[in-house]
Amino acid sequence: MTEGKRIRLPDLAAKKERGEKIVMLTAYDYTMARLLDRAGIDVLLVGDSLGMVVLGYETTLPVTLDAMVHHTRAVSRGAARALVVADMPFLTYQVSLEEALRNAGRLIQDGGAAAVKLEGGGPAVEACARLVESGIPVMGHLGLLPQSVHQLGGFRPQAQQETDAGQLLADAQALEQAGAFAIVLESIPAEVARAVTADLQIPTIGIGAGPYCDGQVLVSFDMLGLSQDGVPPFVRRYADLGEQAVAAAQAYADDVRNSRFPTVGRRKQDEVLAGAK
Ligand code: KIV
Repeated sequence: MTEGKRIRLPDLAAKKERGEKIVMLTAYDYTMARLLDRAGIDVLLVGDSLGMVVLGYETTLPVTLDAMVHHTRAVSRGAARALVVADMPFLTYQVSLEEALRNAGRLIQDGGAAAVKLEGGGPAVEACARLVESGIPVMGHLGLLPQSVHQLGGFRPQAQQETDAGQLLADAQALEQAGAFAIVLESIPAEVARAVTADLQIPTIGIGAGPYCDGQVLVSFDMLGLSQDGVPPFVRRYADLGEQAVAAAQAYADDVRNSRFPTVGRRKQDEVLAGAK
C-alpha cells in the first residue's frame, strides 16, 4: 500500500526524468477507486471504456458526457492520492473549440477530475491547445482510437506500416507542442512506442504497446478478471474476481435455498468465506 501526498502533473514529469514507471488503471466507481488508490496506482483514468465494461455497449460511442461526469464524480470521491483523468467522450471535443472547452470544464468542475483525455491528432491537437491555454491539463491518446472504431474497421493494432508510424510520431510531437502532459499509446508495435517515447519530453503511457513506454495502463476489469469477454490478448490477468463473485453468489444462493442464511445467531465470517472457496 502506498500512502502520501496527491500525485500531480509535475510528479509524472519527474518520474519520466528519473526513469520511474508511471502506473495507471481505469476506474469507474467510488469503491474501486478507493481500492486502486490504496494499492498506490498513480493515475486513475475514468475511461469511456465505461460504456463497454460497465454499461454493456459494444463500443465506447454511446457514452455521454453526463455519464462521464457522474462516474468521474464517484471516482474523484474515492481517490485520495491518485491523479484522476476523465475521458472526453465521442463528439464532445470535435464539434467546436468552444464546446470542447465547456465540456472539459464540466469534467473538471462537476466531476472533480484533474485532467481530461482526448483521442487522436489533427483536430484534437487544436482542442488540446485550447484547453491547455484555459488551464485544463490534457492527456493525448494515439494509435488505436476506440472512438474511431468504425473508421479503423474494428479494434485492431495500428501503426504497422512505416508511414503510419511516421504520422503517429508527428501527431505525438504536435500534441506535446500543444501542451499535452502525457500521451496514451494504444495497440502499436513496441519499437514504434520506443521511438515516440525517446523523442518526447512528456511521458508516454502504453496499452498493448510493449515495455518501452514511460508507464502502463490497463482496463481494471480486464486485469482483475471481471470482464467476461472481449479481453485483448496483451492483457495480463492478475486475479480472477469474476469467478470468485460467481462462486460467492452461488454459495449465498445455496445457503438461502437451504435455510442456512440468515441464522438466529451469527455464523463466523471466516467459516462463511471458507465455505465459499
Ligand atoms: O477508455 C479507456 O479505458 C482508455 C484506455 C484503454 C486507455 O482509453
